[in-house]
Amino acid sequence: MSTTMPGQPLNPAVIAARHNEDILVGNELVRHNRVSRVIHWGVAISFFVGLFTGMPIWTPLFGWMAYLFGGLEVCRWLHPWAGVVFAVLSIVMFFYWLTDMRLLPGETREWFGPKAFTYMKYEDEPDAGKYNGGQKLFFYAVSLGMLGLLLTGIVMWFPLSFPRWVRALSIVLHDITFICFMVAVVLHIYLGTTAEPGTFRSMTRGTVTKPWARLHHPGWLRDVAGRRE
Ligand code: HEM
Repeated sequence: MSTTMPGQPLNPAVIAARHNEDILVGNELVRHNRVSRVIHWGVAISFFVGLFTGMPIWTPLFGWMAYLFGGLEVCRWLHPWAGVVFAVLSIVMFFYWLTDMRLLPGETREWFGPKAFTYMKYEDEPDAGKYNGGQKLFFYAVSLGMLGLLLTGIVMWFPLSFPRWVRALSIVLHDITFICFMVAVVLHIYLGTTAEPGTFRSMTRGTVTKPWARLHHPGWLRDVAGRRE
């Protein structure tokens, strides 16, 4: 989102963020181009529609949520379709971001351990590239979670096509996966909006400042702006 007033020329970094990524424009770095941001917001919106239509189906405790969509019957119809949209967009996001999400050998060693729990920590990583190991793990975890929700959701959508034990197992796995997903996404939103100031704008206007990049992703800053940074 630009802070430019009507009639004023648009910030060149915001214009560049329509098509480019990983470039320096003045004092700003383009982090997510427009396609990347549209895909991410599509994933986020379809996730929340799926969540809020699914919770009243799950338990009457959240029955009041159904009124947001016009009642339980609408939720029962809308929920699987929101899930399909979420799955399709997540697959698109997976392949669009995969190149930047490749785990480096050191990261795999470091982050597949107790450090995975520091995803929430507001700390600078001297070697972090465009994404740190925690963000990469989150990326793979939500991709795997999406697959789990999709497969178990299909079983529940077409129950007569599957044996009884598969249906019973799918219900349990669907519930466990969605609860883990919800917790992870709440932490993710906290990190992207509150814990790391300056991050949210990368998903609205597409750009971040140099000090932000120096603090959180110095390796990426060096790649984009040159060694002297
Ligand atoms: C209101 C909801 C959300 C907000 C405010 C939000 C915010 C953000 C922000 C600011 C980034 C950029 C981080 C960076 O460039 O370093 C990001 C990245 C990302 N988002 Fe979201 N997001 C939301 C929902 C979701 C949902 C529902 C999913 C998946 C189901 C998701 C998956 C991702 C992934 C995989 C990344 C890249 C890895 C990472 O930065 O952690 N986001 N999000």
